[in-house]
Amino acid sequence: METLDFGSLSFAYTKTDYRYVTNYADGRWDAGGLSRDADITLNESACVLHYCQACFEGMKAYRTKDGRVVCFRPELNEARMADSCRRMVMPVLPEGRFLEAVRQTVRANLSYLPPYGTGASLYLRPIMFGTTPLLGVKPAKEFQFRLFASPVGPYFGGSVRALKLRICDFDRAAPRGTGHIKAGLNYAMSLYAITDAHENGYDENVYLDPATRTCIEETGGANMLFVSKQGHLVVPASSSILPSITRRSLIQVAKDYLNLSVEERPVKLAEIGDFAECGLCGTAAVISPVGSIDDHGKIYSFEGFGPVIRKLRQTLTGIQMGDIPAPEGWLMEID
Ligand code: PLP
Ligand code: COI
Repeated sequence: METLDFGSLSFAYTKTDYRYVTNYADGRWDAGGLSRDADITLNESACVLHYCQACFEGMKAYRTKDGRVVCFRPELNEARMADSCRRMVMPVLPEGRFLEAVRQTVRANLSYLPPYGTGASLYLRPIMFGTTPLLGVKPAKEFQFRLFASPVGPYFGGSVRALKLRICDFDRAAPRGTGHIKAGLNYAMSLYAITDAHENGYDENVYLDPATRTCIEETGGANMLFVSKQGHLVVPASSSILPSITRRSLIQVAKDYLNLSVEERPVKLAEIGDFAECGLCGTAAVISPVGSIDDHGKIYSFEGFGPVIRKLRQTLTGIQMGDIPAPEGWLMEID
């Protein structure tokens, strides 16, 4: 293994020693197991290469202060991946297989698990894709599920800073489309927009609801949170937003740990000037404070790392790293 400086990692791929691989053919999954091979050989006509029949997940494993290895709510990733598979006409893994893949992959790559206190973690990326060679538009009959690990640092680089966002002129999801699942095609849709955003000095795009373009949805890789001037947590609700596990966890943390009131409802673009704080949340983003949102020259500013976003971040990361007692079942321990 190359020498890794865990404290200065960015959110980027590092090849680790083992990944879990299982293949589906003739209506069933094979036994599956660990592989040292990070490369995949596909037929040139494999369904995924043309028609994007694929989905993925993202979660993190941590080393706690007392030396345990834990993964944060992986059964919710398992359930969301099953939802993605059903929507993408892909077979769901057999019961228990997803969590077994998590356990085996983490155990086999323990030397890549960042130590407690480095701010880094071991990112786990399950993927599934259709491998059948075909030409007509139809689902594959053969699939591969693969789960690999990569040690990562912060998604937006360096220390926590207030992000600069813009309202995006493109949509990432269609009404009644696939915005609510983790299909790779949603991210393909966003590549042009994120490249343009970066070229123009923005960290991320804020997507509006695709039907009316009057409500806030989410960014390309994270859900959004707002804090009202009264200190309430306001969370955009929409059927085309990805149901973030971090967002769902934060809502519970806000209510049960911080005694905050929480409103989950459509949030109008026209009202964002009324909010005191804004943040992005997700596995990769954790909770990243937002400093400003530019709507075609009209700038909405927020308290960068305000008190509520800060407290939410401290409490959630404390729970994830075992410093604060977690609600029952939130940490899967890997021995
Ligand atoms: N929204 C999008 C578009 C994402 O890609 C992600 C990342 O997974 C999230 C939200 C956050 O979801 P989670 O908290 O489950 O990681
Ligand atoms: C994650 O947070 O796990 C994601 O998949 C988001 C991605 C944009 C890195």
